[in-house]
Amino acid sequence: MSFLDPTWTGLLYLVAAALFILALMGLNSPRTARRGNLVGAAGAALGVVTVFLSARLDNIPWILGAIAVGSAVAAPVARRVKMTQMPQLVAAFNGVGGGAAALVALLELAHTGDAWVRLAIAFTLLVGAVSFAGSAITFAKLQELMTTRPVVFRGLPVIMAAVLLAAVGAAVAVVLTGSLPLALALLVLGLAAGVLLVLPVGGADVPIVISLLNAFTGLAVAASGLVLGNVLLLVAGTLVGASGTILTRAMAAAMGRSVAGILFGAFRGGSTAGSTAVSERPVRSSSAEDVAVLLGYAQRVIIVPGYGLAVAQGQHTAAELAKALQLRGIQVDFAIHPVAGRMPGHMNVLLAEANVPYEELKEMTEINSEFKTADVALVVGANDVVNPAAKTSSGSPIFGMPILEVADARQVVFLKRSMRPGFAGIENELLYEPQTTLLFGDAKDSLTKVLGAVKAL
Ligand code: TAP
Repeated sequence: MSFLDPTWTGLLYLVAAALFILALMGLNSPRTARRGNLVGAAGAALGVVTVFLSARLDNIPWILGAIAVGSAVAAPVARRVKMTQMPQLVAAFNGVGGGAAALVALLELAHTGDAWVRLAIAFTLLVGAVSFAGSAITFAKLQELMTTRPVVFRGLPVIMAAVLLAAVGAAVAVVLTGSLPLALALLVLGLAAGVLLVLPVGGADVPIVISLLNAFTGLAVAASGLVLGNVLLLVAGTLVGASGTILTRAMAAAMGRSVAGILFGAFRGGSTAGSTAVSERPVRSSSAEDVAVLLGYAQRVIIVPGYGLAVAQGQHTAAELAKALQLRGIQVDFAIHPVAGRMPGHMNVLLAEANVPYEELKEMTEINSEFKTADVALVVGANDVVNPAAKTSSGSPIFGMPILEVADARQVVFLKRSMRPGFAGIENELLYEPQTTLLFGDAKDSLTKVLGAVKAL
């Protein structure tokens, strides 16, 4: 039985679509992101309720059971996940979305004789399966269940080309015949293509691939909207597809790479893998007290946060240190690299959590020319985003990525635990430069010690 006529259904879908757009607008800034997220969730809830009230659904107990199981699994996982594990969570949720769209399309095949609908089904099957399998491999890489380095083997490009050709052939056959076995073959080929697409991507490029697969899931969901004749799915899928594409391009641009280079670089031998060997060369290390003196008698300090600050959960101590230095009349800013950390906006979110005023967070393009005027650049758990190899070493996996020009500051202080490299797995020559000092230890512990020593000056 349906409780809503098509007019009301359309109206409620329109409200839900407007909520999705408002959610995306909210997610534009850390100030409004939390509200944006809630608005998006409200839109999704309204969409689901509207389907229940408007469509003549069979198997309602099964549907409710599936919703209950999904919620029981997802809610605790989302609650417990650490901020640094967010990309894995996004990969997992994204993969499930793509897989669900593919399964819906498969089930609808028996209910249609229309070639256009079959075309949408074939597209959803292929793209949804690519997204599901690709996301599963991405998850395994980010969770370090497998190597994070590119996996390339002899003949991979040929196998990939053969799988894609076979998939296109199977898709055409599905459109022409509506055959279920061929649809299943298309699903399997899509899964294989997803695995082969992501295996050669490695190191720092993996999170970008999540965003690309996210765009794929959006497209698959939009196509499943066509299959089911559901306007809201079409709108929501298109929004996800478009925003995922914009994010992928923005992240790739911030790293000075092309999306094709990320996907096919390893095929061409331009692997993104770095060496994880740790050099034995001497470096200048000092105590927290020495670092406090450097900072406490400076006029201008620029703090460069990175992934290690998030791991150490040292954001509150970093904010306190900035305040203590400002009380001494020192100008302090935070320099934010667009790909510092492991997800877009990671450092903004982290520092917003510690109530660092937005005006003190300076984007890379704004602050880079100011390092020249800084007495100290304090690099807290960052590495790749300040690594000059991005400018000087053409064979480096980060070559071409714009970096924060910390080497222009009079003194550079690194807070890190060891000489291990960052995510891209490459050495940072700046650690060996004469103006560089290292304070070894967990970032939060080191910041706490430096803060105590600054207060005692
Ligand atoms: P990384 O280059 O990964 O360096 C992090 C540093 O933090 C390491 O040198 C590590 O050295 C240190 N560290 C880890 N845990 C620590 C702790 N508890 N205390 C102190 N130090 C700690 O980070 P980054 O500079 O932020 O660069 C981000 C990387 O991720 C880039 O390669 C970027 O391309 C990639 N990436 C980011 C994104 C987004 S959107 N953010 C997307 C794609 C790729 P130790 O182990 O010696 O302590």
